[in-house]
Amino acid sequence: MCYSICLISWMIVILCPLQKVQSHQNEWYKTATIYQVYTRSFMDSNNDGNGDLQGILEKLDYIQTLGFDTVYVQSVFKSPFLDGGFDVSDQKDINPIFGTTNDLKNLIDEIHKRGMKILIDFVPNHTSHEHEWFKKSVKREAPYTDFYVWENPKEFDSQTNEPIPPNNWIAVFTGSMWKWSDERNQFYLHQFLPVEPDLNYRNPAVREAMKGILKFWLDLDVDGFRVDAIGHLLEDIMLRDNPWIPGMVGVNNYRAQIHKFSKNQEEMYEVTDEWRLVLDEYTRKTNRSRIMAFESFDPPEFVQKHMGNETHKRLHFVLCPTIFFHRPYNASGIVDFIQTQLRVSTPSGVPSWSVGSHDMGRSGDLGGSEISLPSFMVAFLLPGVATSYYGDEISMSDQPLRPDQKSNMDAFDHLKHRTPMQWDDSTNAGFTRTRKPWLPVNPNYWAINVKRQLGEKHSQLNNCIRLIKLRRTPTILNGQLAICTPTPWLFVFQRYLHGEASIVVVVNLGTEMELISLKDCSFNLPRVMEIHTASSSSGFQIGDKFVVCDSSNLTSCPRLRPRSGLVLTSARSSESSYAVKSKHSILIFALSLVLSACYW
Ligand code: GLC
Repeated sequence: MCYSICLISWMIVILCPLQKVQSHQNEWYKTATIYQVYTRSFMDSNNDGNGDLQGILEKLDYIQTLGFDTVYVQSVFKSPFLDGGFDVSDQKDINPIFGTTNDLKNLIDEIHKRGMKILIDFVPNHTSHEHEWFKKSVKREAPYTDFYVWENPKEFDSQTNEPIPPNNWIAVFTGSMWKWSDERNQFYLHQFLPVEPDLNYRNPAVREAMKGILKFWLDLDVDGFRVDAIGHLLEDIMLRDNPWIPGMVGVNNYRAQIHKFSKNQEEMYEVTDEWRLVLDEYTRKTNRSRIMAFESFDPPEFVQKHMGNETHKRLHFVLCPTIFFHRPYNASGIVDFIQTQLRVSTPSGVPSWSVGSHDMGRSGDLGGSEISLPSFMVAFLLPGVATSYYGDEISMSDQPLRPDQKSNMDAFDHLKHRTPMQWDDSTNAGFTRTRKPWLPVNPNYWAINVKRQLGEKHSQLNNCIRLIKLRRTPTILNGQLAICTPTPWLFVFQRYLHGEASIVVVVNLGTEMELISLKDCSFNLPRVMEIHTASSSSGFQIGDKFVVCDSSNLTSCPRLRPRSGLVLTSARSSESSYAVKSKHSILIFALSLVLSACYW
């Protein structure tokens, strides 16, 4: 029965009740448009083959011209770079290949002068094994003796006398989560790489030290942090074995276990509450929100708890949900994802969408390069925060690397997402003038680069600029959202606000042509709309008229090519169409509840 309701679901509009997003100056984050810069790959100012802080400074005008209001400057701390800079060896210092703390201060000031905001990393779960704390902890030097999670062996192997780890936990990057230290004669815990020992959050001194790090960068005037790997902060105090996924017992892979005792332990919320107090203190002092965005790929109940509620506010938004990844690549897969994000959001813990990321890669690599602009249409025109990873704006693609091209460890085959920014068609795409950048430039740089796209009227870059401008309109900033899936492959949503132009996004996720029967969505749209943005493969042009038709009159219906997208705008909506919509909304919302039950 539920299945049959699900089958007809694509014919029904789903109205999502939204709290109005109000963007006060001190709540800038609620509608932030974030440009994520992987520092090492963005712009090399001193020609050593590595991007750096001065390079970001040189390109700030570019980022601002695109329309972004926030820059997330990633992986800048001192680090042996065995995990892309997330293996931090000093959280209060800058990696010399990127510059100095003064360079970061300069960058912060320049960003603020432009009325923009800056986020940096906060990596609380672990440090590098080269961190002073760890070196002292290995030697049991006070006060660092218990800064990390140390444990005695469960037992010693009767034949080899090898120490046996305390339990069966598997690290994210495979292998046991425990590594033996001959020097200390104990195991230490590492949720990620063995070179990334886990900090011990049951030690109050660790909590204080980590708060000190937040304060250190807040004093330098950063606006907030991307909190890394939050679910991994604490583990079960009794170190109980994790259950195995049925059929996977003993498989040496993170995905073989249910991480019941090694992840998302209740005490992590106490820790984040302490961080929130620190941020609030700075927010009060400056009347400007200092925020924490967090990384989580966890089930919605955990994300919801991290967001808190209006009387107990916690984190501000999740930074990583990339819009077209990790879910069924069809209309209901996207709707399901969007509804979940909206459901776990609160007025202060807002929804957030990303186009690509340093871990997930670029949207075009999953659905083909045609889907790159449509992913911007969705991420940038839904309510809440939008993030784009450097180079997504020109549809850069991943570049798999040969082993001899990797100067660093590549734990999860992530380096291919981090190749240098493609600025122009000169040697090394204008990223560096040295012969060899730290990672090779994608061979397609001569065709896919900023210089070329700035000169082409309908390039992805210019379309992104159009979308970010549209993002600033009252309809997108404060409007309501209605979602519709007229066919299993066509994903449609409308943003509308009383007295303002309606905006409709239509994306064909499938591999075949689809009829766009918008009347089936009951959106109360005018008969003719205008095309505001069209992806190059769509077959439509900016400025064209678009006829809103229904499936009962198929001959008049426009068709949309596979893996392409359109943004349509109407004239300002009239009183009456708004009222009609409200009459339907109760029935429709009730249906949407039934549907959500199906999806879940
Ligand atoms: C986060 C980062 C990832 C890193 C991991 C361990 O998931 O995004 O790149 O490897 O944390 O720090």
